[in-house]
Amino acid sequence: MRLGLLREFASMESRVALVPDGVESMVAHGCDVLVEQNAGTAAGIGDDAYRAAGASVVTTAEARAADLAVSVRDLPTGDGVDGARPPLFVGVFDPLWMPQRAQHHAAEGICTFSMDLVPRITRAQTMDVLSSMGTIAGYEAVLLAASRLPQMFPLMMTAAGTLAPARVLVLGAGVAGLQAIATSRRLGAVVEGYDVRPAAVEQIRSMGARAVELDLSAAGADAASVEDSGGYARAQSEDVAGRQQELLAPYVAASDVVITTAAIPGRASPLLLTAGMVDAMAPGSVVIDLASERGGNCAVSQSDVEVDRGGVTVLAPTDLVSRCARHASQMFSRNLVAFLRHLAPDGEIDLRDDEILSAMLVTRDGAVVHPGVAEALDGSEATGEG
Ligand code: NAI
Repeated sequence: MRLGLLREFASMESRVALVPDGVESMVAHGCDVLVEQNAGTAAGIGDDAYRAAGASVVTTAEARAADLAVSVRDLPTGDGVDGARPPLFVGVFDPLWMPQRAQHHAAEGICTFSMDLVPRITRAQTMDVLSSMGTIAGYEAVLLAASRLPQMFPLMMTAAGTLAPARVLVLGAGVAGLQAIATSRRLGAVVEGYDVRPAAVEQIRSMGARAVELDLSAAGADAASVEDSGGYARAQSEDVAGRQQELLAPYVAASDVVITTAAIPGRASPLLLTAGMVDAMAPGSVVIDLASERGGNCAVSQSDVEVDRGGVTVLAPTDLVSRCARHASQMFSRNLVAFLRHLAPDGEIDLRDDEILSAMLVTRDGAVVHPGVAEALDGSEATGEG
């Protein structure tokens, strides 16, 4: 099998899908690895390191013409993009949220897998890029907040007086949120965490934070309406969302830093911070919204734009993980190698009936075959969105 490692084309993307260690592993698995020139340059990995790992360094067209091509994000599409297309592609292209991309791949006859559709089951844990990237995003969000807050995070008792610790509130306690809590605690902040899933309470506490618990029952929320059988949060009704905002408002107003990470698979992110809630924060406070790519958790955040709202800094960077390109690439590469070895157990691609492959397969034989993506596509065609 010829495996092509593509260079990322998105300008803000510094990661690379396979690091030399991953290439070595795929070569040992029997693959010819073709690395597009400068694929790892932005992550600090030169072409020579790939050659030393057993790969050939090739042109863009040669890498794309491999039996299977891999990248961190999507294949380039749209005007001005032409040339070779791989018969099979593995990347991350959020097809539940942006199903038109899948339609495009289907039209081009490319069989695709999206790594973000990895099922959260024990057998697939080694392939879980969502957890890997969430860990880095949570960590980086805290460093960004700490660098922008006009005060330090820890309690300091100095000859010049006592300095109070920063108060950090983390909304959404999945992988990214729990890492943001852990990192804020390590820096010495006083931390509170909140998640709509009741199971998160213990996890928030185990990270050393105080768990904020809101009684949403009067607005109609119960155990079944907040969480699905897979352990993911569900979208909340307007009543529940409104009550949530109302009950969160005093916690937000008392915080120096609010980091929001709340997400619902394939849906717009829940609005947790209204403009009024940001207005009630003290000037100098910082909001980091990690959910802006799906609409955001904060009403005033804008992707990759620094917003000053009455002295409160509101940031919604979409390249946080890419800023930590070395470790992000290392983790992504490990996850990808685990997936590729599962896809080609004996060194040849085996598109068999399998729980993990079926969950991640998006297009095949010119059609969108993932039921959730096909449904999202029907919905977006009906509303004219996309
Ligand atoms: P995610 O990125 O989809 O969402 C982040 C967090 O936002 C979640 O904890 C979610 O409950 C929360 N959220 C959604 N709506 C909210 C609202 N209105 N208010 C407050 N919080 C809200 O989550 P992630 O990190 O991908 O984890 C999703 C689930 O998968 C969790 O239950 C997690 O424990 C589980 N998981 C399982 C793994 C495994 O078994 N291999 C590995 C990693 C995560």
